[in-house]
Amino acid sequence: MVSQTHKLNLRQNRMSLLEIQKELERLPIPINKYRPSSGDGRSQAFGIVNRRCLPPDYSRNCWTRPYLYHLLLEYGKANVKIPYTSITVNQNYQAGPHRDKGNLGESYLVGFGDYNGGELEIHEGPLTGLHDVRQPMVADFSKVLHSVRVFEGKRYSLVFYTSKRSEGLPEPSVEFIEGKWTFLRGGVVCSGLPHPLKDRVKV
Ligand SMILES: [Fe+2]
Repeated sequence: MVSQTHKLNLRQNRMSLLEIQKELERLPIPINKYRPSSGDGRSQAFGIVNRRCLPPDYSRNCWTRPYLYHLLLEYGKANVKIPYTSITVNQNYQAGPHRDKGNLGESYLVGFGDYNGGELEIHEGPLTGLHDVRQPMVADFSKVLHSVRVFEGKRYSLVFYTSKRSEGLPEPSVEFIEGKWTFLRGGVVCSGLPHPLKDRVKV
């Protein structure tokens, strides 16, 4: 028999995903043109990311969409039992076959919205096959070829994972300060990161 606590948790899980969906529909995330193998689409990473030519740090999405980041962190706190540093948000994004180079170990993946099709297809290894990720899935699939099957309707998904080379960076949080949602990096308000070459004296 399904316990009352389990039913309550499922309901809360659905409510928080609905809240995330509402926020994404209010203001869709931008199209990402830097996904060479999986293709262009609305897919953005929050939390720690690799940055071209720069050391890994928090993605600018954390301070440009602090309320969305707050909702993601709250969902993670309540539902994601694996360690993670980063969250990729996909909005109606049909990822082509790819491997995720920057991920370490297991990922937590959940799909939501109102859609048909859109299974996660794993093309190799022991998890080969189609996976309906509306039931959250925890697996180490980032290094094997995977893609999203064609779908109809609105499909959203979140992937919680650990980014390589993320050690030593301060913890993130989002707080409501002086009437607005604010991103904090290690307890310090952060609305941008200095370029490491800024102020460097030329010799
Ligand atoms: Fe992926």
